Amino acid sequence: MILRLSDFQFPDAPARLYPDTPDRDWYLEVGFGDGRFWPHLAPTLDFPNYLGVEISGVSLLKAHRRLRDARIENAHVTKLLALPLVQGVIPPESLTGIIVNFPDPWPKAGHEEHRLLRAPFLTLAANRLKLGGAVWFTTDHDEYFEFACAQARDTGLFELDFTAPPASALETKYALKWRELGLGVNHVRFRKIKHPDAPAFDIHPYPAEEAHVPHAILTLPDTLDLNAFEKFTARDPRGAYTVILLEAYRSVRRDEFTFLAHVVEDELTQEVLVNVTRRADGSSLVRLGRFGGPIITTGVKAAVATVTAWLEERGGVVTHRGY
Ligand SMILES: C[S@@+](CC[C@H](N)C(=O)[O-])C[C@H]1O[C@@H](n2cnc3c(N)ncnc32)[C@H](O)[C@@H]1O
Repeated sequence: MILRLSDFQFPDAPARLYPDTPDRDWYLEVGFGDGRFWPHLAPTLDFPNYLGVEISGVSLLKAHRRLRDARIENAHVTKLLALPLVQGVIPPESLTGIIVNFPDPWPKAGHEEHRLLRAPFLTLAANRLKLGGAVWFTTDHDEYFEFACAQARDTGLFELDFTAPPASALETKYALKWRELGLGVNHVRFRKIKHPDAPAFDIHPYPAEEAHVPHAILTLPDTLDLNAFEKFTARDPRGAYTVILLEAYRSVRRDEFTFLAHVVEDELTQEVLVNVTRRADGSSLVRLGRFGGPIITTGVKAAVATVTAWLEERGGVVTHRGY
């Protein structure tokens, strides 16, 4: 199931998230990409409970489809940054494993602080893992591998088990990419041997989502009449999405307004806001609103395109399209 931030409790409980299988082991996968890993691994572990966290909305949908096709019921995916999820949602001593396959290596000098597997995150991970539970780390990047091992050792909370990666970790999209290039893969399990004295809260925020926010820039006529707005439906000719523009609201600030769009795609339905704001040079910016944490999908981009088209039909002249 796809879970949103508002679906969680803080902290949440396996009994609520997996009511049919509350006593099974619980695994978290960070940055699951297109979601090939869990359908491969789950049968080898007798289908533990699974929560996958990923910042890419497109990956979220791909992974959700894979889980559905594999008929794995006790598995949820969510589009969030890993750190707030682990901090806010996962209760202490609840996880059997935290899986990190091919995380972004941040290879440039001075960029190490952006890496996920640093001592503060690993200390938090140790707080959320059961004793004996482990962070499973697979990477092609030798330097990140050594770095993360040193960070794990520095916490004093883990034993490092160097083992062969599970076969499933060699079948992810990135694993296949590196294999094609003839590159090797490193795997280690940071096995929790000690509970941290205090939970780690002094964590450097992991980089905010860089996802491209759909937008357009256009020049609007002075006489745009929002009262002329009527509910309007746009359908993808291939059936991938339906966008219904439900409402248009004028902001208390002059010349700013917002459209409410209902976006239906496959099994995902979202209500999104598309804002139109005036720029310093007199042009207007049409942009997906952040409110509600929308998952940026083809249909959501189409919602921005639909608003832009509506404005074009009323005399707007588009100078840039970013969707
Ligand atoms: C190099 S890809 C690896 C994907 C997948 N694990 C694989 O092996 O094919 C790294 C993934 O981590 C995700 N990611 C990066 N930072 C993240 C964060 N803070 N929280 C959750 N996911 C994140 C990216 O969107 C991307 O899909």
